[in-house]
Amino acid sequence: MIQIAIEAALKAGKILKDHLGQIEEINHKGEIDLVTNVDRLSERSIVETIKAHYPHHQILAEEGGNNSETTSEYKWLIDPLDGTTNYIHGLPYFCVSIALEKEGELILGVVYDPVREELFTAEKGQGAFLNQKRITVSKVEKLEKSLLVTGFPPSIWQDQGKSFEHFKNFTVRCQGVRRLGSAAIDLCYVAAGRLDAFWERGLKPWDMGAGAVLVREAGGCVTDFQGRNFDVYQAEILASNGRIHKAMQEVLQLAEER
Ligand code: IPD
Ligand code: CA
Ligand code: CA
Repeated sequence: MIQIAIEAALKAGKILKDHLGQIEEINHKGEIDLVTNVDRLSERSIVETIKAHYPHHQILAEEGGNNSETTSEYKWLIDPLDGTTNYIHGLPYFCVSIALEKEGELILGVVYDPVREELFTAEKGQGAFLNQKRITVSKVEKLEKSLLVTGFPPSIWQDQGKSFEHFKNFTVRCQGVRRLGSAAIDLCYVAAGRLDAFWERGLKPWDMGAGAVLVREAGGCVTDFQGRNFDVYQAEILASNGRIHKAMQEVLQLAEER
């Protein structure tokens, strides 16, 4: 199944690359929640590839055009273009993200960044890979030595929640906090040890599914903000190299308790 996920991700990635700078249509799902014709083209291609091999599997894809609920134990979580806002502006930090669940458990993740030609893959129990080379999370032990990444939900204009408190609390306790604009790549960079931890609230299953498998298989830790079991259907994720996980939880609690 991972081969099919890779085939779908590579094909969709080519679509994203070929259309970069040539978007025909931009629609608003919300004030800053955007979707383009390229999101839809990419999604159609991924769903076609998967359905050609597994016509009975369930599909949960962001743009929803081809979603299907069946009795199958398998469910694909698909973000055809993670980082749409970057994509629209020509900022080369976006990807395709595909995860597979079996009986509610995440069993594989594939993320493809077509600009850097970086293919991140992981299967449960088999380790995590970047272009077929094994990757592992960083060895940073202390928050003071860490480089972190986060994101903000499309609803940020209306509801900031604790986002900016968390951002400030981390900024004064680590070497830097980045906000790069693609949750799926952010998670893969934690898996590859380029970043030490990621947190975000307000995400959807298709944003987090694949990246969560990557981080776990790279030896990292994935939970909610309080350190409880990660659930891809709950909009909260804290993913780290494991070594700074407890410290991350404590900083998140500073704002949550107020
Ligand atoms: C968004 C990106 C972004 C995150 C947002 C997501 P989209 O996904 O992952 O990094 O901060 O919460 O909605 O809309 O570009 O697929
Ligand atoms: Ca997304
Ligand atoms: Ca998307």
